[in-house]
Amino acid sequence: MDKFVIRGGVPLSGEVIASGAKNAALPIMAGALLTSDSVTIANIPQLRDVKTMVALLGRLGAHVDGESGQIQIDSSTVNNTEAPYDLVKTMRASVLVLGPLLARFGEAKVSLPGGCAIGVRPVDQHLKALTALGATVTIENGFIYARTPNQQRLRGCDIVFDHVTVTGTENILMAAVLAQGRTVLRNAAREPEVVDLCHFLQQMGAKISGIGTAILTIDGVEALGGGHYHVLPDRIEAGTYLVAAAITQGDIVVRQVQPASLAAVLQKLSDAGAAINSGDDWVSLHMPQQPKAVNINTAPYPGFPTDMQAQMMALNVVAKGAATINETIFENRFMHVQELRRMGAQVKLQGHTAVSSGVAKLTGAPVMATDLRASAGLILAGLVAEGHTTIERVYHVDRGYERIEAKLTALGAQIERQLAD
Ligand code: EPZ
Repeated sequence: MDKFVIRGGVPLSGEVIASGAKNAALPIMAGALLTSDSVTIANIPQLRDVKTMVALLGRLGAHVDGESGQIQIDSSTVNNTEAPYDLVKTMRASVLVLGPLLARFGEAKVSLPGGCAIGVRPVDQHLKALTALGATVTIENGFIYARTPNQQRLRGCDIVFDHVTVTGTENILMAAVLAQGRTVLRNAAREPEVVDLCHFLQQMGAKISGIGTAILTIDGVEALGGGHYHVLPDRIEAGTYLVAAAITQGDIVVRQVQPASLAAVLQKLSDAGAAINSGDDWVSLHMPQQPKAVNINTAPYPGFPTDMQAQMMALNVVAKGAATINETIFENRFMHVQELRRMGAQVKLQGHTAVSSGVAKLTGAPVMATDLRASAGLILAGLVAEGHTTIERVYHVDRGYERIEAKLTALGAQIERQLAD
């Protein structure tokens, strides 16, 4: 397995361009299953998870041209409605083909996505809502079986999610766009990636209102057409580079980003002492002195994103003062803490709360990546730690960060990938 070797201590400077958002590209690619017309999607990031989605669409019989940048998906040739275990186990977001397959073909068999490092991650809300739309949903031998009686259309209805679920909202949205009648989704996720999926579906002819709010109203149509769509910038990738600049007391500009989608993160970085400016599609950050530690409560959008929690913890552990981070979304998203401690961080865990007291410096050490965003946190810590940090299992990073070592190197970081022999 590849590893990263980072020599810390260089303040980052320069410009970096954000790639397309992983968590918008994946549902939008799944959404291409809803039409037999060809769909062109631009700004697709070059990521392992995107490659997995391309492989999954191919296994279903769709033709996919390209794996990054601008790709074309033709689902007119889909001849299989089973998402197999070997692909779903590598990427839980494969469950996003469930709604589109059921909506278009009246049936779907999707391997039950297991838990992962950060939590059990059930899909009960997805299945409850599909049942409400008229599907028969059973779980047998580790698979979700969903079908409509005599492969009729789903029937629109009112659905209230018990709690906010991003891919749950996306799956049901994609099921509802071809259902008979009106569906109202309440307590829907409002993440920018959900908004991007709504805009993509509208572009194909879907009738959706309330976009960006917690109440989505969908009036089903008989069929959707193809089209061309450009995926929005990745706010989590952009936020990660901004924290990289803050933690190294550097000065960078992130381009091709939507500042409004990062408001909660920018607020916290400003509270930490960063000087932040922004324009239509860029954000600059300068951290002129040791940052101040900031308290964080993760929450559904527009609250502070759980996907930025590990990154902010890396900042807090080298910041002035003490702070608490409450992780309210996932039950086990502190896997980075034990690794940060190996670098000298002072962090105590009390249930869903991490209490840190900043240290003047971290020392480089060999550490282990456990999940995508924990890996990002460890990279950030390595950028500021004294000496060398070696990060094992960087395949976690490759799932969600396009060419991260090239982008960091361009900002002055001393990072190299050591290929597994
Ligand atoms: C999406 O995961 C993202 N993944 C995650 O990003 C992100 O952390 C998460 O939303 C929260 O923002 C993609 O979009 C591909 P949820 P998702 O359903 O949809 C519970 C990354 O690093 N829940 O919003 O799986 C669940 O256990 C990844 O890019 C149920 O109980 O998350 C969690 O505690 C990691 N039942 C909470 O809700 C359900 O049916 C939020 O989960 C569904 C969810």
